[in-house]
Amino acid sequence: MTVAALGRGTQAALEGGTKAERAGQGAGAALADQWGRRITYLRLSVTDRCDFRCQYCMPEKMRFLPKREIMSLEECLAVARVFSEMGVGKIRITGGEPLVRKNVVWLLAQIARLPGVCEVAVTSNGSQLPRLAGEMAAAGVNRVNISLDTLDAEKFARLTRTGSLAKVLAGIDAALAAGFPGGVKINTVMVRGINDGELSHLARFAFERGMDISFIEEMPMGEAGLDRGLTYYGADEALPELRDVFALRPSEYSSGGPARYWQAESGRKIGFITPHSHNFCESCNRVRVAVSGELYPCLGQNGKVDLLPALRESEDADSELRARILEAMRIKPKGHEFDLHGGGVQVVRFMSATGG
Ligand code: 5AD
Ligand code: SF4
Repeated sequence: MTVAALGRGTQAALEGGTKAERAGQGAGAALADQWGRRITYLRLSVTDRCDFRCQYCMPEKMRFLPKREIMSLEECLAVARVFSEMGVGKIRITGGEPLVRKNVVWLLAQIARLPGVCEVAVTSNGSQLPRLAGEMAAAGVNRVNISLDTLDAEKFARLTRTGSLAKVLAGIDAALAAGFPGGVKINTVMVRGINDGELSHLARFAFERGMDISFIEEMPMGEAGLDRGLTYYGADEALPELRDVFALRPSEYSSGGPARYWQAESGRKIGFITPHSHNFCESCNRVRVAVSGELYPCLGQNGKVDLLPALRESEDADSELRARILEAMRIKPKGHEFDLHGGGVQVVRFMSATGG
């Protein structure tokens, strides 16, 4: 396919990035969307399954995709490779719980070896880390984010429905012992009535082990188990207490993601991911691929491009993938529209499908 045939938006999509963005890339061009935002970050979900059933994420009886409808690990790698050839240097592997996917460490090692990839990160619920953390570090994973919403074993069991706090704490220890070069970070979804009284305790737990922590505002994704209007707890409510406890100062630090950071006297950081109270869309640098092969240009909207036909039905899968990725650049919206109180769920897919 010629560049001209790709149409509107392609020119912007093919314009070169900064030197740092181009470094190590085979094809040399950086992706950009129709609004001129550089897309350098892919979140790739490798399974929609999970061993937990967190109340804000899934209903108790979740239906998962049949095997033929999910990408094989080889197909996941092809998607990662084509993105990396188009200028995406950072790839985060998510789920569901990515570490319940069989042979996932093979995929991690292959992705870490791609010439254009400078960072491979994993988001995990921690349950499989006692078993896999060492292998993951050896495979070249740079950093790991572990979800931890409460340190109270009984609340943890209630919130995750099937999870065990002891196992996750062992997973955190294993990750710290494995020595990921980019570090281990804690992610905490703020849930009123569950952990709103515990946020400084969680931050202290993280800091004492040399980890930063990010607090995430709950997003209305799919029909899970919580009544969002009641459980939503925003950064504006959480910050005053944390600011006092840790003498927080605003930090200029940016991880290239949507989190805004505050720094404690110790130098450790608290991030806030605030889709509701502060819009971060203008600096969005990412897209998501679900394990179904659906490429979502925006977490907060339903628009998508299907990569599975490119992988399975095309004679030249690479060019077809490239064309579909460029199409996603043309439909990536300027911003998202979450609505907690305006009559229910707007985005109908589950977080476990697109990996947060
Ligand atoms: N709102 C906010 N965060 C969520 N996560 C899962 N579902 C939601 C939701 N509805 C979080 C997980 C994990 C990260 C990948 O996404 O807890 O920390
Ligand atoms: Fe699993 Fe993460 Fe969803 Fe919890 S939030 S059910 S750990 S995918």
